[in-house]
Amino acid sequence: MSLTPKELYQRISKKNDFLLLDVRNPDDFQASRIEGRFTPETLNIPYYEFVEDEEKAVKRLPQHREIVALCNRGNSSGFVVELLKKYHIHALNIEGGIKAWGNLYVTHDIVQGQIIQIDRPARGCLSYILISQNEAIVIDPSRHIDIYREFLLEKKVRLTAVFDTHAHADHISGGFALAKAENVPYYLHPYDAIHPFDMLPGRLNPYEMLKDGFSFQIGQLTLTTVHVPGHTLGEVCFLVKDQHASYYLFSGDSLFLQSFGRPDLGGQGKAWAPLVFTSLFEIIKDKVPHTALVLPGHYSSAQESNESGAFARPVSEVYKQNKDLQVPKEAFVNYVLEHLPLMPPQYVQIKRINLHLADVSEQEASDLELGKNVCAISQL
Ligand SMILES: [Fe+2]
Repeated sequence: MSLTPKELYQRISKKNDFLLLDVRNPDDFQASRIEGRFTPETLNIPYYEFVEDEEKAVKRLPQHREIVALCNRGNSSGFVVELLKKYHIHALNIEGGIKAWGNLYVTHDIVQGQIIQIDRPARGCLSYILISQNEAIVIDPSRHIDIYREFLLEKKVRLTAVFDTHAHADHISGGFALAKAENVPYYLHPYDAIHPFDMLPGRLNPYEMLKDGFSFQIGQLTLTTVHVPGHTLGEVCFLVKDQHASYYLFSGDSLFLQSFGRPDLGGQGKAWAPLVFTSLFEIIKDKVPHTALVLPGHYSSAQESNESGAFARPVSEVYKQNKDLQVPKEAFVNYVLEHLPLMPPQYVQIKRINLHLADVSEQEASDLELGKNVCAISQL
């Protein structure tokens, strides 16, 4: 009896009343949790407790409630599910455990067949495929590039370029690899092609340098680059206008639906925090149409999504509802610096990988990416 990660996603996207039994050790449990629009009640009883004293561990579980069991790869939780049968407790195992959950991607049509949001729920990472007149681009792809390649193949569209809004610190980008595999240009702002800690130039070769105002056509969609430094020095947004004169703002890690991108992931929070203010209030708020739909690069909580599970909200609403944007100018920099979550140490290495200054195995990549992003200044 088991659940695939996709089935788990569907179940926690709706009201549910099962108990999630996480049998990983307490450190791993603390480091990464299963969360959804309706996060289930979760109990951590490490696997070894079932081995050491089975009856005692089982006694901690409700007898008449459905249990869904989780471990790292699905093996020890599978053992627990089998064991619970003896006690007539209905239990399901999550196939592949937290590792498979980390590799789950779900898609949402923002505009049917034209703007597709790809959500990686374990990490809160969002990427996008834009399609018009059989041409396509991808923005901020994750490292599992087959997700995008298969999608494009199925839709029978031709990829013409890949864009990264910035050099990511929280996850390994698939931007360069996807562009190379499909033999199309990869776009990044040159300020982000330098490692901010090591001060070493990246080895992305070749890449196309983005600059403010650069525009690109995808069928009937016109993309314009807006340079919004602060989260990184080379952070950009892409403002896209469609054939009906509707606007979409692919905001990367500048503006989120709740909160905004932290300025300290390059080690220069104090220096870059004022840039965040300028980008949010003097560039995006002033220059982007307020009807534009914000399509961010991340979210902190699945509760930021709409009922269909997509993350999208007009600029006007984001500026009204996002609590971190309500801080007055004089207090802004201090507020930002006082609300910085701890920076995960692996972010320095992830940036190296994204700039081709370091290489990792699949196992190392997966370990580096474990858990949810902490790219926003404050988590919900
Ligand atoms: Fe980022």
